[in-house]
Amino acid sequence: MALVSCNTKYWHYAIVISLFFFLNIYLLYNTAQHTQIKEKLKHEKAEENKNEIASCEIVDELAKSAISRAVSQECRRKLETEACQLKNGTFTDQFPISTCSNHDEQLVDSPIGCFADKKEARVLNDFEYKFPQQNSKETCRKHCYKAGFVYYGLEFGHECFCGNDLTNSTKIDDKECQTYRCPNSNDEFCGGFNAVEIFRTGLRKQITPRKAKYLPPSDELVINPVKILFLLQLNGRNERQVKRFLKSIYLPQHYYYIHVDSRQSYMYSEMLQIADKVNNIHVTDRRFSSIWGGASLLQMFQQVIRDLKDIEEFSDWEYIFNFSESDFPILPIRDFERLVSSNKGMSFLASHGYNTGKFIQKQGFEFVFSECDQRMFRIGKRDFPHNLRIDGGSDWVGIHRDLAEYSISDQEFPRKLRKMFESILLPLESFYHTVSIFLL
Ligand SMILES: *[C@@H]1O[C@H](CO)[C@@H](O)[C@H](O)[C@H]1NC(C)=O
Ligand SMILES: *[C@@H]1O[C@H](CO)[C@@H](O)[C@H](O)[C@H]1NC(C)=O
Ligand SMILES: *[C@@H]1O[C@H](CO)[C@@H](O)[C@H](O)[C@H]1NC(C)=O
Repeated sequence: MALVSCNTKYWHYAIVISLFFFLNIYLLYNTAQHTQIKEKLKHEKAEENKNEIASCEIVDELAKSAISRAVSQECRRKLETEACQLKNGTFTDQFPISTCSNHDEQLVDSPIGCFADKKEARVLNDFEYKFPQQNSKETCRKHCYKAGFVYYGLEFGHECFCGNDLTNSTKIDDKECQTYRCPNSNDEFCGGFNAVEIFRTGLRKQITPRKAKYLPPSDELVINPVKILFLLQLNGRNERQVKRFLKSIYLPQHYYYIHVDSRQSYMYSEMLQIADKVNNIHVTDRRFSSIWGGASLLQMFQQVIRDLKDIEEFSDWEYIFNFSESDFPILPIRDFERLVSSNKGMSFLASHGYNTGKFIQKQGFEFVFSECDQRMFRIGKRDFPHNLRIDGGSDWVGIHRDLAEYSISDQEFPRKLRKMFESILLPLESFYHTVSIFLL
């Protein structure tokens, strides 16, 4: 069923490295234009046919509120369609079963037993969910699985615990875990009072991502350095800052791909002049305008990877690293090159560094977002797919070409993941982490 073989080409994607080399001075997203667009759309709205009817009756409060705030007709239609898909259960794809080494389908739901538990010292103490409406083995498992935990446990009807470790636990009679029915179920039990019934999620072990090899600064030249593609995503007008930045990271053997926000014509023309003079700087004419946290940020990044196929001079790039107009290196470029080269084959993705369960909650994964009218609307709760293990962290990414090309390929997993990430806020903070962990 799954189409990915993790053991062949995709090896050793390290999740952790601090991208501390570059200092992000500030992030700038243009909100001024936002207002102009809104005005224009308001005008359009006044002229549209207001009697158009959605293809289903929308009852979800989030969806109703989002639709009422949509300005353009196109946006309203998009929100309505998606709200109806959410309602009739066709919005979320089923993901393929992972064939990778850390997933074992035999272990999914395999019973471990009933254990004595107490509030002060939980047997499974890594993460806790409360599902007063729909707790069940299935619900609890998928939530613990997506955050990478090895065990899940049901207790007290609505409680769901996740963890990786059963040390210090005391097994008790199975009957103790058959006290409470799961909410909304007649036959399934969801544990007992101070008694937790534990199962395996399907993951073999907790994965601690490899750390990148760190090499101290040195004057020696790097032998066979990798070919890095520096992607500069530019906004604003401060072209002098960008030129300084370019100068500090420029080497003739690397590639520089510049995307200027479609609203910034001054910056664009400045960049075209620079690109005129050298072969390894390319300014793309396929320009997007991005919004904070928007799904289009990821689409733009992937479009760049697709477009690279058509730039002959850049055909042997091995890594893509992304930057903005507010970045500046705090390491000499030769040292950066040395670091990347000595970790060849791995991608550089910084972890959120804390409990993945908390990360997922904080990022708002449980909500479905939709991008239109230059903003992200929250349109409902997500029915989370069963076989998806999520991870995330920094959205400054350094991606090996294999991972980059896999992420835009037509294979089932990346294809479905791309679709799902159209409805996720801040998609760049977890898309590549999630793809790479699927391959581990
Ligand atoms: C679900 O809703 C969408 C959007 O309205 C519609 O196109 C689709 O046909 C519906 N599917 C089912 C199975 O009802
Ligand atoms: C197990 O219990 C002992 C003694 O109560 C305690 O010192 C130790 O930290 C516990 N280990 C774990 C992993 O909770
Ligand atoms: C690129 O860099 C900026 C910060 O410099 C970041 O906000 C953005 O999301 C990054 N990631 C990608 C993949 O575009």
